[in-house]
Amino acid sequence: MAAFWLISIIVLVLLSGESNANPAASQQSQLDVNHRKPLQTFRPYNIAHRGSNGEIPEETTAAYLRAIEEGADFIESDILATKDGHLICFHDVILDATTDIANRTEFANRKRTYEVERQNVTGWFVVDFTLEELKSLRVKQRYNFRDQQYNGKYQIITFDEYILIALYADRVVGIYPELKNPIFINEHENNLPIYEI
Ligand SMILES: *[C@@H]1O[C@H](CO)[C@@H](O)[C@H](O)[C@H]1NC(C)=O
Ligand SMILES: *[C@@H]1O[C@H](CO)[C@@H](O)[C@H](O)[C@H]1NC(C)=O
Repeated sequence: MAAFWLISIIVLVLLSGESNANPAASQQSQLDVNHRKPLQTFRPYNIAHRGSNGEIPEETTAAYLRAIEEGADFIESDILATKDGHLICFHDVILDATTDIANRTEFANRKRTYEVERQNVTGWFVVDFTLEELKSLRVKQRYNFRDQQYNGKYQIITFDEYILIALYADRVVGIYPELKNPIFINEHENNLPIYEI
C-alpha cells in the first residue's frame, strides 16, 4: 500500500511538472521554498561574517556552506567588480593577502600602485583581472594562526553564485552583501552590470 502511494505521488509530481507551463513556478517547486524553515525570530540573528572564515578561507562556497551548517541566519559578503564587469565576493581591492597570486608567474607584470581612499596601495588589483583569470586563482587563509589545510582548494565566487548558495539552503538564509570601495571601483570600471531590485 505504501509503495502504491509512493508511486502515485511520483506520477503526480511528474504529471504536474509536465503540465506546468510556467517556468518560474517549476523553478520555485525545485527550490521547495514552501517547506523550508523560516528565518528564526526568537533570538538575535547570527550573521556569518565572510562565511565560517575562522575555519575555511573567507568568502568561498565551502566557508558559506559551513556557516549555514553551523546555523547562520545570514551569510555576509564583500562585493567587488572584475575588469570585465562581473561582481565577485572578495574583501580586499588587491588579491595579495588571500589568494595564490604572488606565485602565479603569468601575472607577475600585472602588479600596480593605485590610490585607494587617499592611500597608495601596491599589489595585484581585482579590477585588473577578468573573471576567468580570477577563477584560475585559489584562495588561502588571511591569517597564519588559522587552519591552513584548505589553502589552494577553493576559487573566488561570483555574487550570483553567492546568492544561489543562500537560495538553495534547506531553510531560509539571508544574504548580507557589502559593496566595497565604490569610488575606486567606479574610477576603474566601465562595464558594471545593473541589478534591478
Ligand atoms: C607559493 O609557493 C611557495 C613555494 O612553493 C609555497 O610554499 C607557498 O605555499 C605558495 N603560496 C601560495 C599562496 O600558494
Ligand atoms: C601616491 O603616489 C604618487 C606617485 O608617487 C604621488 O604623487 C601621490 O601623492 C601619492 N598619493 C598619496 C595619497 O600618498
